Amino acid sequence: MSTAGDTQGLAPSKDNQKSAKLSLDGKDFDLPVYEGTVGPDVIDITRLYGDTGNFTYDPGFTSTASCESKITYIDGEKGLLLYRGYPIAELAENGNFLETCHLLLYGELPTKAQQEDFNERVTMHTMVHEQMTRFFTGFRRDAHPMAIMVGVVGALSAFYHDSTDINDPVQRDIAAIRMIAKMPTIAAMAYKYSVGQPFMYPRNDLDYAANFLHMCFGVPCDRYEPDSVFAEAMDNIFILHADHEQNASTSTVRLAGSSGANPFGCISAGIACLWGPAHGGANEAALRMLEEIGSADRIPEFIKRAKDKDDPFRLMGFGHRVYKNYDPRAKIMQKNCHEVLQAIGADRDPTLKVALELEKIALEDEYFVDRKLYPNIDFYSGITLRALGFPTSMFTVLFAVARTVGWIAQWKEMIEDPEQRIGRPRQLYTGPDERPYVPMKDRG
Ligand code: SDX
Repeated sequence: MSTAGDTQGLAPSKDNQKSAKLSLDGKDFDLPVYEGTVGPDVIDITRLYGDTGNFTYDPGFTSTASCESKITYIDGEKGLLLYRGYPIAELAENGNFLETCHLLLYGELPTKAQQEDFNERVTMHTMVHEQMTRFFTGFRRDAHPMAIMVGVVGALSAFYHDSTDINDPVQRDIAAIRMIAKMPTIAAMAYKYSVGQPFMYPRNDLDYAANFLHMCFGVPCDRYEPDSVFAEAMDNIFILHADHEQNASTSTVRLAGSSGANPFGCISAGIACLWGPAHGGANEAALRMLEEIGSADRIPEFIKRAKDKDDPFRLMGFGHRVYKNYDPRAKIMQKNCHEVLQAIGADRDPTLKVALELEKIALEDEYFVDRKLYPNIDFYSGITLRALGFPTSMFTVLFAVARTVGWIAQWKEMIEDPEQRIGRPRQLYTGPDERPYVPMKDRG
């Protein structure tokens, strides 16, 4: 298997394959097994249906690799997250978000010249077509900003016909740069619209995170200089949320893109999926839960509900499909959280106190320990974002701004994968067998 960053094709190397034996209806089938750079091997079942007449069955895809990728790797047992091989903590502590964008998109950390060129290209695409401002007036002022994001980002495809030919690598690259550059502008516009303030144009003299804070919290009648602690925390939040293997929203973007749909529409589909409370909507849900708990003495009541199978309540910000020890992003997010709260003199924020007490209790409770349910990134990101001044309804929007580079990098990799074809899962059908139509008069 080629190593991360190689330009060779994505097709698995066939020369070092092992094989798995399947015995079915008295016949034996050899299925090729491929090894990755790290992580679990995969059993190639592409010929299973043709050879055996059987499908596999894996709701939620807990044991299914949907693709080969060189971008991000998670080891849930070790609490490890690598972007193109680099540990997330090292990128967050030493780099910045646009450096991470270059790494995720092109496979390597940029040289100084490459970084300057990339920053310039992104900066030159931060404005949106002036007519896009009219989309906002069609929404109610109290519309959820994620609803606005789904609509307005999807509408980008109506404005950029010169970058929707997905088979042209130059247009794919322009579309990627445009998405990374314009998401903060559209997100800030959604926020401004919700608070009835005028939109703020991007400023080319500010870096990505500081510019986003300017567009959100600046006003035309005053000069806004983003607090450096806040800008650093914002940049870190973007890095931590940038990509995460084949999670639900990334898989949505890949599936939409596999039909040849334009990249803007695919990202809009990813935003819609991320909105779900089990996925990117968890930071908003986690903060609402902490506020509902209100004080440490009510925590046992909520822990009891989380364990009750008859109660749909889940502890928001806990658990993860892949991380079964600790979400490495949560550790960095917790540090960010304390720094921001200290900066605003609220390091004993009552919600943070409830969060820390809930974390302590849950990490000692056998239900959570037995099921390896640990705080994930959403547990602390909500508190941090509130401290930065964002309303709860904007939390998932910020997640979408960060995840756009992951979505577009994965979309680009899928388009360039020689093995890619339209995604079309099959099913186990348990509905009625064929039966004749019953005219209305005979239906009793
Ligand atoms: C994100 O995929 C990604 O990479 C996502 C993400 C990314 O960066 O893209 O990391 C971002 O989405 C993080 C997750 C945010 N969601 C939440 O915080 C919502 C609360 N968490 C749960 O909804 C849940 O943990 C999931 C959805 C995250 C994972 O669901 P799974 O895979 O079904 O959970 P599991 O198989 O590990 O559950 C094992 C057991 C089950 O109970 P039993 O059937 O064994 O008795 O733990 C229970 C679950 O019911 N459980 C919980 C729980 N999470 C799982 N019980 C109480 N509270 C919880 N939070």
